[in-house]
Amino acid sequence: MTHFLDINTTPADDLRAIIDQAKAIKNARAGLPKGALDADAPLAGQMVALIFEKPSTRTRVSFDVGVRQMGGQTMVLSGQDMQLGHGETIADTARVLSRYVDMIMIRTFEEATLQEMAEYASVPVINGLTNRTHPCQIMADILTFEEHRGPIAGKKVVWSGDGNNVCASFIHAAGQFGFDLTFTGPQTLDPEAVFVEEARAKGVNITIERDARAAVEGADLIVTDTWVSMHDPQSARERRHNQLRPYQVNQDLMALAKPDALFMHCLPAHRDEEATTAVMDGPNSVIFDEAENRLHAQKAVMRYCLGK
Ligand code: CP
Ligand code: NVA
Repeated sequence: MTHFLDINTTPADDLRAIIDQAKAIKNARAGLPKGALDADAPLAGQMVALIFEKPSTRTRVSFDVGVRQMGGQTMVLSGQDMQLGHGETIADTARVLSRYVDMIMIRTFEEATLQEMAEYASVPVINGLTNRTHPCQIMADILTFEEHRGPIAGKKVVWSGDGNNVCASFIHAAGQFGFDLTFTGPQTLDPEAVFVEEARAKGVNITIERDARAAVEGADLIVTDTWVSMHDPQSARERRHNQLRPYQVNQDLMALAKPDALFMHCLPAHRDEEATTAVMDGPNSVIFDEAENRLHAQKAVMRYCLGK
């Protein structure tokens, strides 16, 4: 059974193959209408369940379109509308769904839900974001970086802001794809120590720098994300904003990185909070390429899970 649960639990060679296949999949579709089938229709006859315990625009639409382009069918399910949201165990849900569908993508609040789903499902399970990680996003981001700047190995990536789920998957990717990662943010919002320690134990160059201006020096890529994630309590909003304001990605900060440094944000963004509109819509921003590449990267992930 090949699940896609995290970047650090998928072999590095497989991750590289997924990125390379994503590039080929994207190139093969150049100029085709969005609804056209891929020539080889690798998911013909396959049914994929897309489960969401919390909101989504990109993940929901890109998985749905991706399955359909590959000739498969989807059902989009809200966790709240399922018995899952009313006391049925995750293990039972996983075993039931496995009798109906060929693959499951799930976005959950708790990572434990994803892990239990994967343990009890007899079909592949894909992580569509948990409170702790967001691997599909980072696969799209690696694809995006390499399209614009070539191999990401050896580059310097700076994460500015909250050390959240997307940041954690970037830390995983630093080890698997061989780039250096600098985190800059307030100590209270550091990435979980386990992510940093695991990466360092594997020899990955992870730097923590409280001064955002010093952190971005020599950066090839600056990344940020919302200051309040979906799993964060709204009561923490004001405190987080106050702590994170020095880490806003604005033109002054971008000017301290390499002149051709890219800017990324997984979206949805809160314009003029974590990043200014001038940066988001500026010449170094690739935010909409990232969004598009969710589609191509996840198609490669799904093919990998199904052995196609
Ligand atoms: N980046 C991302 O996962 O967006 P959605 O929450 O819209 O799916
Ligand atoms: N860190 C954000 C990412 C959204 C795609 C969240 O978890 O809400």
